[in-house]
Amino acid sequence: MTTRQKFIAGNWKMNGSLQANAALLKAITQGLREQPPACKVAVAVPMPYLAQVQALLAGSSVQLGAQDVSQHEAGAYTGETSAAMLADLGVRYGLVGHSERRQYHGETDAVVATKAQRLLAAGITPIVCVGETLAEREAGQTGTVVARQLAAVAEALGQQIEKIVLAYEPVWAIGTGRTATPEQAQQVHAALRAQLASAAPGGAMVPVLYGGSMNAANAADLLAQSDIDGGLIGGAALKAPDFLKIIGAAQA
Ligand code: PGA
Repeated sequence: MTTRQKFIAGNWKMNGSLQANAALLKAITQGLREQPPACKVAVAVPMPYLAQVQALLAGSSVQLGAQDVSQHEAGAYTGETSAAMLADLGVRYGLVGHSERRQYHGETDAVVATKAQRLLAAGITPIVCVGETLAEREAGQTGTVVARQLAAVAEALGQQIEKIVLAYEPVWAIGTGRTATPEQAQQVHAALRAQLASAAPGGAMVPVLYGGSMNAANAADLLAQSDIDGGLIGGAALKAPDFLKIIGAAQA
């Protein structure tokens, strides 16, 4: 049986500067040269820095990612960035449906699904984020919420669903220091994996990442769970030593 290679992706969110990015990536790429990763690594950076980061990552094992994409193909959409533009800049991964986009920018399941389609059409792998709020977890709705969020994308993509990366990010764990326990995360991951497996022949091989206050101290325990294939890392991805430790914890 082929195994799923672990995958660690950093999500810088709206952080960085030309100077800070250069210093951070220098430390990360140097660390990975000394200790080559056993997993895949990517960083999802703010749009204005894509070209800078593409140049800085040349020749390294770290792939370039974006944090969002327009749901439209091209044209009169002021302020938007198309999937083709991302592809032009060497972007390999694109986050869609991050809870901050759903929450602050009103992105619906349908919009998230369209964005995933746009990325795939441009040859970019969507990292589709799903996750429940604290109120939903407390109401016992975790399973239904994440299943609905994934189903919308699966319906739009059909068999192509097996080309995505999925990230389970409980909203109450993002940026709060309150991580899901490995058991809590594993339970949701197993259910998502079953849903993916029934959606497409290769669905069970889709990497399912955990995100939400994953850090250098808790990464190994989370990554040891059988259905946790990696991490989507926010805060800890901005500190090279922490990000490198998380990558080191992700054995194949
Ligand atoms: P966090 O963010 O690691 O800072 O909790 C994760 C994310 O939002 O992707």
